[in-house]
Amino acid sequence: MNDVEGKVAFITGGGGGIGLGMAEVFAEAGMKVVIADIRQDHLDAAMAGFENTNFQVHAIKLDVTDRAAFARAADEAEAVFGPVQIVCNNAGINMFSPMDESTYDDWDWIMGVNLGGVINGVQTFVPRITALGQGGQIGNTASMAAFITGPGAGIYTTSKFAVRGMTESLRWSLAPYNIGVSVLCPGLVNSTIYESDKIRPAALSGAKGPVDEGFMKRLAELHKVGMDPVDVGGKVLAGIRANDLYIFPHPEFRDELREIFDEILVAVPEGDVDPQRLAFEEGRREAAARAKAQAK
Ligand code: NAI
Repeated sequence: MNDVEGKVAFITGGGGGIGLGMAEVFAEAGMKVVIADIRQDHLDAAMAGFENTNFQVHAIKLDVTDRAAFARAADEAEAVFGPVQIVCNNAGINMFSPMDESTYDDWDWIMGVNLGGVINGVQTFVPRITALGQGGQIGNTASMAAFITGPGAGIYTTSKFAVRGMTESLRWSLAPYNIGVSVLCPGLVNSTIYESDKIRPAALSGAKGPVDEGFMKRLAELHKVGMDPVDVGGKVLAGIRANDLYIFPHPEFRDELREIFDEILVAVPEGDVDPQRLAFEEGRREAAARAKAQAK
């Protein structure tokens, strides 16, 4: 979607971090921007930052796991600015702890926000955008953790692989409606995601131990060297304008990605393939190539 001026964008997790970076860049580009966030303090601080600008920004308090509230937020956005055409499902949390120490509550909380929130955003807005019939753009925030695994944040990684898979599939589904779909995969960004525990709902805090303050401090220091969220927002806007499938803000992952893909290819066996099976796979690949060409 090259022509973004005057278009309405809805950004979840827009009260802080990457979402707020996107909001600043989008508003600067002449878009009308709704920032939706579960944290009222983040929304208040964000709106205070927009006070002396002529940007058109509206804040809505929203928990992305609440489907009824999501529909109400979409109604409010439309009432304030008109139909939404650009949706950035960006709200996310992390708890930086290994999978083998995790509880069902940990799983439900992280998958509920990081994957469920994206699903809810898609389910809420896609029918509205297709009904409008003027095209649009969906940008879902995954992470480099949608490609790179490690022992530290297994549930988060699971959720981000799922967001990537969902977003890639969605791109082919929405191409006929002229709705572009992108997946944002950042590395380290200077945000306060390490504070996620502060907004963990009581109902999903069953066996949660005390917060390790020393670990929190180290995470805060680490995130300071992350990319500026406004720079990430600029790359998202460029990706939206070009309808790029992948938006990778960080260049430092090229070698590691190559290693991962090489490792996968080495594991795939060579040898003769049953001709009927091969014909099926070739037909599928041709259909996928046509869908990809249509989506660009
Ligand atoms: P952040 O914590 O600074 O911002 C996320 C915002 O989402 C916060 O304002 C928070 O209040 C809001 N939020 C959390 N749960 C919510 C819910 N249930 N409903 C509505 N809003 C909710 O974190 P950051 O870093 O800006 O994260 C944004 C996205 O970027 C997340 O999806 C995260 O996983 C992803 N990401 C972040 C990276 C980083 O290094 N900071 C790296 C890769 C991906």
